[in-house]
Amino acid sequence: MAQTTIDKLKSQIGSQVTLRGWVYKLRSIGKIWFLVLRDGTGLLQCVVVKAEVPEDVFAMESRLTQESSVIVTGTVREEKRAVGGVELGVSGIEVVHVAEEYPIAPKEHGTAFLMDHRHLWLRSRLQHAILKVRHQVIKASRDFFDSNGFTLVDSPIFTANAVEGTTNLFKVDYFDQNAYLTQSGQLYQEAGALAFGKSYCFGPTFRAEKSKTRRHLTEFWMIEPEMAYCDLDEDMSWAERYVEYIVQWCLEHCKTELATLERDTSKLEKVKRPFPRITYAEAAEILARKGSDFKPGSDFGGTDETLISEEFDRPVMIHRWPADIKAFYMKRDPANNDLALGVDMLAPEGHGEIVGGGQREDDYDILLKRIRDNDLPVKPFEWYLDLRKYGSVPHSGFGLGIERTVGWICGTKHIRETIPFPRTIYRIEP
Ligand code: 4AD
Ligand code: MG
Repeated sequence: MAQTTIDKLKSQIGSQVTLRGWVYKLRSIGKIWFLVLRDGTGLLQCVVVKAEVPEDVFAMESRLTQESSVIVTGTVREEKRAVGGVELGVSGIEVVHVAEEYPIAPKEHGTAFLMDHRHLWLRSRLQHAILKVRHQVIKASRDFFDSNGFTLVDSPIFTANAVEGTTNLFKVDYFDQNAYLTQSGQLYQEAGALAFGKSYCFGPTFRAEKSKTRRHLTEFWMIEPEMAYCDLDEDMSWAERYVEYIVQWCLEHCKTELATLERDTSKLEKVKRPFPRITYAEAAEILARKGSDFKPGSDFGGTDETLISEEFDRPVMIHRWPADIKAFYMKRDPANNDLALGVDMLAPEGHGEIVGGGQREDDYDILLKRIRDNDLPVKPFEWYLDLRKYGSVPHSGFGLGIERTVGWICGTKHIRETIPFPRTIYRIEP
């Protein structure tokens, strides 16, 4: 009997197969009962007919419970009405483990309850689909950079450097020194880009986000490319090529998942280059026109981001920001010293900022002054300043938040469902 998985059955019609999985659902109509089997690759309707199986197998219906583990044998049949277009005519079932009463019943549960049972909730259809999309977003990201001449240069998690401000740092005891969990791998990628031309890192990043929003986690995953001999315009071109690639990849490789999630894919199909590029000043004008109470000079809040993104049918890139509200390492616009050559990309449909990046300050003296002006200690930045002493070049990069991107592609409102085990201010379990 060929051992197989549910995702492969379409090409195995007529064969006798064995599948290992769990009971997703049970339903009986007297002389026939149905077991919906879940094996991690999909769901399969298995039909148990009294006249076709030994008595003890037919009697299992009363013993089995939701999420019991079973090994099922039978013949694959075409069944147009079933999910996946096939079903299994069962000839035998081996019970591996009878599950206790499963806490996640088909009835509605609140999110807090489901999050407390995240280790089990992952088995549910929608959560399974979201994490499959996440897997493909990450795969597409690696493919994109690997096939475009980038070298993977892993940034460390423990660091002595505050990259993105000092208010949301996670401090850790590091023997007799101060260390932080990294907020971004960027600074190390700048070393990577000067060594390899183009480099990237992909890893978890940490921010002690004290506010509870649907877009913030304390631990999230970022992919961060960095390019030597690259200005802000080219940086934006890389960002739009990359984001277009991810979206088109998912449209092709996540059809089942996006259908399960009832995602309107026509919106995603529009995600094609070029993406609109507007200045911060132009974005502020949009907000003024739409009656927002936004104060020019400040950062956009979540509502402002939604108002801006509503104007466009694809991601929009906002560049040239007031330098005061951007990080110390950003290069200033030669045409206006008050502006930083930074860029944020906002996803459509109100999913917020998915990319932040820009051109880096490459002059030693200016960068040193910025570090001091920002009250950052110079010592831990000496290695970073070195990069401006030995072969400094114009260089740029960006970071894309995996969870927000997955949330947008899946149409998931809250990003806590886009990561297997979310970490927020109130949650470190499970
Ligand atoms: O805009 P940010 O802060 O940029 C940086 O960290 C740069 N150093 C990256 C670089 O240039 N290499 O963060 C980048 C992205 C945001 O656009 C957002 O998608 C995501 O990281 N992000 C978060 N995602 C979830 N929870 C949070 N608390 C996040 N903070 C940022
Ligand atoms: Mg940002």
